[in-house]
Amino acid sequence: MKAIVLVGGFGTRLRPVTYAVPKQLIPVAGKPMLYHVLDLLPPDVEEVVLATGYKADLLAAYVKAHPVRWPVRTVPEAEPLGTGGGMRNASAGLSDPFFLLNSDVLASADLGRMRSVHAAHGGVGTMALYEVDDPRPYGVAALGSGDRITAFVEKPEPKDAPSRWINAGIAIWRRDVIDRVPAGRAVSFEREVVPGLLAEGVYGFRLSGYWEDAGTPERILHAQRLLFDDHRGGPGGVPPGARGTGPVATMGAFSAREASFGPYVTLGEHVTVEPGAHVENSILMDGVAVGREAHVEGSVVGPGARIRATHRVVGQVLGEDAEA
Ligand code: GTP
Repeated sequence: MKAIVLVGGFGTRLRPVTYAVPKQLIPVAGKPMLYHVLDLLPPDVEEVVLATGYKADLLAAYVKAHPVRWPVRTVPEAEPLGTGGGMRNASAGLSDPFFLLNSDVLASADLGRMRSVHAAHGGVGTMALYEVDDPRPYGVAALGSGDRITAFVEKPEPKDAPSRWINAGIAIWRRDVIDRVPAGRAVSFEREVVPGLLAEGVYGFRLSGYWEDAGTPERILHAQRLLFDDHRGGPGGVPPGARGTGPVATMGAFSAREASFGPYVTLGEHVTVEPGAHVENSILMDGVAVGREAHVEGSVVGPGARIRATHRVVGQVLGEDAEA
């Protein structure tokens, strides 16, 4: 089986960081978000096709320099084609069926079992669903017998939500669904195509464990905590010469002597945290410098940003080369 991963969005909710770095390359628990998504794929996948758009060149260069276990091909869009148009644009040579993954879903999911469940149902598609307390921001599935999806309600008011099981952004589709995507324009697959497929048999695959749609600063930091707690953030602890609890994931050379770390921190390459500074529950991207006695908490700090001595940065998103 092959997999299409949708990587073309602008990541507007993570600006200003995403002005410089596509969302999928923001490091979370020690590796780019995209690589945690790829980790979910079964080992026997034949090829991963990245449907790219925004910052396509940066993504292509990164995956070339950091290969994974599967052959990876990037197929860029000249202009944003939406989720449906993006998958159609990337569909040459696709397997039948194929995996379709959003690139910002950080979750525990057994896609090998999902593939077996899909084969057993024999429907046109199988969509992973996750149960949330508040389904309002999502597409919510109505489920019939055998977990067949009978309807999808987008962004419902609580009284109109047919369940609390939402589209988790992970699916398996029969190849011919591509033919249902109108050509030559932007198409939302979920809104324009999926409703017309339900009559042919689309089934829900209920995820247990954890799931997060890491599209906002709060959710990306929540996803980072989930990944660390699932031991997907490396060995844990704090860097040599530093104090505190960690876990801290480091991605290359850094300097952090006599700095202190609370839980859930990622340090990109060439990060400097000066003595007496404290960092927790944050992502510091490549080249970030944190001055003496500064305090960084609950923040996503873009590449090359500088935080001055004694300053407090709490709950902030700092863009590339920002000064605080
Ligand atoms: P926001 O701008 O913050 O909403 O983020 P986003 O642009 O990533 O949008 P959203 O989270 O709704 O996108 C869901 C998934 O579809 C993500 O994996 C996106 O990268 C991807 N995606 C969204 N629009 C496109 C597109 O036009 N083309 C392609 N190839 N992928 C897309």
